Amino acid sequence: MPVSGEVYRHIGRSAAGAVSIVTAFDGASDRVVGLTVSSFVTLSFDPPLVMFAIQHDASCYPALTTSEAFGVSLLTVHQTEIARRFATKGVDKNANTRFDRGQVLRVPLIADALVQVECRTHEIFASGDHAIVVGLVEAARPREGEPLLYFARKFGSFVPLPES
Ligand SMILES: Cc1cc2nc3c(=O)[nH]c(=O)nc-3n(C[C@H](O)[C@H](O)[C@H](O)COP(=O)(O)O)c2cc1C
Repeated sequence: MPVSGEVYRHIGRSAAGAVSIVTAFDGASDRVVGLTVSSFVTLSFDPPLVMFAIQHDASCYPALTTSEAFGVSLLTVHQTEIARRFATKGVDKNANTRFDRGQVLRVPLIADALVQVECRTHEIFASGDHAIVVGLVEAARPREGEPLLYFARKFGSFVPLPES
């Protein structure tokens, strides 16, 4: 028997994770579309695959699930404003956002992100009310910095435990 919505939401709140922005060009308008995700993970070393989950009712769902390529930008602790903007429906995500263009796939990427990843869309699986999008990593640009994390509906930073 499935758990209640309340229990399920508690599971979600308890799963701390890194915050990333997934972006692509909307083929129709040529504008950048994207969303904030905490579901981004590395999947396979050989070949180098990554994945994220996207809800069916995201307005960027059609563009992101038909695009041949997408960008993933892992955010730094200084980029909470961008995380909020890309998690808000109906706002203009192109306004006040500085983008870079990927050097290999030309996908849009968030400027100054901790890591910028250029992915070719590899496979898409339907799963419940989400789709799982798997990307083949064609290029990546890491920088020094601190990751932005999300836990219990709050943004935060990583604090290592003292060495024991
Ligand atoms: C920290 C955080 C993590 C999120 N992770 C995901 C995710 O992994 N998948 C998803 O579909 N939505 C996720 N969301 C919600 C979307 O960012 C949000 O619904 C977004 O507005 C959807 O895009 P749209 O504006 O194009 O509809 C997350 C939101 C936050 C604040």
